[in-house]
Amino acid sequence: MSEQRFFLFLRERIGLDVESVGAPMVERALRQRCVAVGAMDLDDYWLRLQQSNDEQQALIEAVIVPETWFFRYPESFTALASLAHKRLAELAGARPLRLLSLPCSTGEEPYSLAMALLDAGIAPAAFLIDGMDISPSSVAKAGQAVYGRNAFRGSDLGFRERYFDTLDEGQCLHERVRQQVSLQVGNVLDPALASRDGLYDFVFCRNLLIYFDVPTQQRVFEVLKRLLHPQGVLFIGPAEGSLLARLGMRPLGIAQSFAYVRQEGGCAPVVAAPAQPARRTPVLATPSYQPPSAPLPRPLRALPVAVKAASVREHQHEGKSELLASIARHANAGASAQARAECQRYLGQFAPAAQVFYWLGLLSDTEGDAQQALTHYRKALYLEPQHPEALVHLAALLAAQGDQAGARRLQERAARVGREPER
Ligand SMILES: C[S@@+](CC[C@H](N)C(=O)[O-])C[C@H]1O[C@@H](n2cnc3c(N)ncnc32)[C@H](O)[C@@H]1O
Repeated sequence: MSEQRFFLFLRERIGLDVESVGAPMVERALRQRCVAVGAMDLDDYWLRLQQSNDEQQALIEAVIVPETWFFRYPESFTALASLAHKRLAELAGARPLRLLSLPCSTGEEPYSLAMALLDAGIAPAAFLIDGMDISPSSVAKAGQAVYGRNAFRGSDLGFRERYFDTLDEGQCLHERVRQQVSLQVGNVLDPALASRDGLYDFVFCRNLLIYFDVPTQQRVFEVLKRLLHPQGVLFIGPAEGSLLARLGMRPLGIAQSFAYVRQEGGCAPVVAAPAQPARRTPVLATPSYQPPSAPLPRPLRALPVAVKAASVREHQHEGKSELLASIARHANAGASAQARAECQRYLGQFAPAAQVFYWLGLLSDTEGDAQQALTHYRKALYLEPQHPEALVHLAALLAAQGDQAGARRLQERAARVGREPER
């Protein structure tokens, strides 16, 4: 119980919904900080926290999840490159493109934006990128721009040869990429951000809102929407989409890019947040994976018959979606054991789903168990032959095992999926 005041402090200061990372994680951070400052107990630590800005920052550092890597969700960078060309043509040289990566964590995201635009042949003078994060130590690491293995994931790592030098300490990013990015410590909840309203053509706010409760998400979405130029595009994380529709934003319809623009004709009415204790679930009810060929969400129609059965199905669907979103969140945050346990729970409760086997494959893959990963990816593809991520990852695994022909076949299949027209 005595931890509640710390939970409240974290919610107020950084928007953290303790439930999203789990109370044990925050309690562990509290214990660590008590030891670090020599506090006798939580009451003593609370007093010290009140008296010291440095300690407040240290507690925040202890609870944030800085997990990130270069070209995370690669399709969003491909989408960005073509949207940037279009936007530059509209601007006709009036000013450079402006991009924001908030939160930028240790820099992988804003630097990926820079590399993607340079790769797309866009001149360095034609774009500026701001990176912002609440964690001073993450921003300092971003400034150093020297990266270890974890920053490079997936199979397509050609950019490492083009933009990095190998040093003893790690991979050092070239100055021509670094100079495109201005880094800053900042809080997405800071009202001072309003001075940048309408400034950005592209805002990347990915894997932050999953840590917030619904009212905070709603507040942050409003901030992001205001930061965007009216013609701007907002990129979010895979599990963060459903509130946006209610705030007058619509998905651009580019598969796996999680890109949103303003809805023509103004905002849809905002549905009030539930009156019960804050829950994240309505937002997380969006599954993290949307097949590229899936139709865009349609307005709900009233069903004349079988209302009761439909509502039962709806509840089941909600449970499934929540669990999928939670798996995605834990897997993306590196909490493999939790993600795996949730996958097993899902398979125990619901019919087998490709996305769950894909996550199990990815978890085995990350843990170096290639054989298990192969089995899981194959199950995913058995259930959903065009599952793009399973195709790509299985191809990479086969290639690593020397089965080039098998890998090529899957890559071709994945490319065909990517080319399917949006519906
Ligand atoms: C999981 S990382 C996401 C990094 C990157 N956008 C990505 O998707 O790979 C989450 C980051 O959010 C930052 N963060 C948490 N609360 C924040 C806040 N209120 N304002 C700004 N950054 C915040 C943390 O410091 C952490 O670096």
